[in-house]
Amino acid sequence: TEAWGPDDDEPRPHHGPVKVRVPAKINLHLGVGPLRPDGYHELNTVYHAISLFDELTARRGDTLTLTMEGEGAGELELDESNLIIRAARALAARGRVPAYARLHLRKSIPLAGGLAGGSADAAATLIACDMLWGLGMSRDELAEVGAELGSDVPFLLHGGTALGTGHGEAVSPILARPTTWHWVVAIADGGLSTPAVYRELDRLRAASPPEPLGGPDELMAAMRQRDPKVLGAALGNDLQPAALALRPQLADVLHAGQEAGAIAGLVSGSGPTCVFLAADANHAQRVAAGLTEAGVCRAAVTARGPQPGARVI
Ligand code: C5P
Repeated sequence: TEAWGPDDDEPRPHHGPVKVRVPAKINLHLGVGPLRPDGYHELNTVYHAISLFDELTARRGDTLTLTMEGEGAGELELDESNLIIRAARALAARGRVPAYARLHLRKSIPLAGGLAGGSADAAATLIACDMLWGLGMSRDELAEVGAELGSDVPFLLHGGTALGTGHGEAVSPILARPTTWHWVVAIADGGLSTPAVYRELDRLRAASPPEPLGGPDELMAAMRQRDPKVLGAALGNDLQPAALALRPQLADVLHAGQEAGAIAGLVSGSGPTCVFLAADANHAQRVAAGLTEAGVCRAAVTARGPQPGARVI
């Protein structure tokens, strides 16, 4: 047995580096309610974390700096507007420590893709800096800080498959026997602005309302059956008509996925990434190859879900 002194539970600053891996998210169900007075829409969503990862490394420093490589390098601003810098500052303020760290991002999740890459990086920053600075905050405390930064941050701290309500920040896990689902992610050229997609939905709804999805019960019941065909039939996204209105070419992507033999396909979150459900890993490879051949997207990659949330590796 190890001899723990009474003070050994106290979190201590870490000498670093601390490396954190964080997944992308898709929404298996995204029900969008009315616009609230605070500018957000009321949501009921089923979040699902998939195996497309960003990696954030935090080292000790005597100021706060951010560098990056990979997806979006040279495009993503690395200044005070960056969600990583904002997350580090918010956590430092909450923990009453100076916001000193050298942060480096290795990015695979596309920018403005509807995969919550920005929220993922904020979640990774909270986990990494909490450890680097020895704050020892609980996931709930980190989620509280994170909810102020982006609607999807609490889910990306959590991971797995979970129900999201409020504006997405209120997360409760879905207790189900673990099943691995196989996905193909069709990454688009260029992003879509999330607020613009929500505004387009409001505009469409004011003109001639598309039928809203309703609650997530059918989706959750479908998941419990562990049959990809049943799950495929239950996938749905209220933002899809708005994303398609802003980016009509996405219809070609969805069509190409169907032609390539996917069980089902839909726009991920606010888009423009489209995701397709496959029966197994081999089927996912074939669907990805079909999408690549159709030339309708920048890249088609396979992924598995669910995955754990942001965690030290
Ligand atoms: O929370 P997040 O930063 O991801 O939200 C970006 C924008 O997307 C919000 O400012 C808002 O315009 C829109 N949004 C919304 N309803 C939500 C989530 C986001 O209208 N539930």
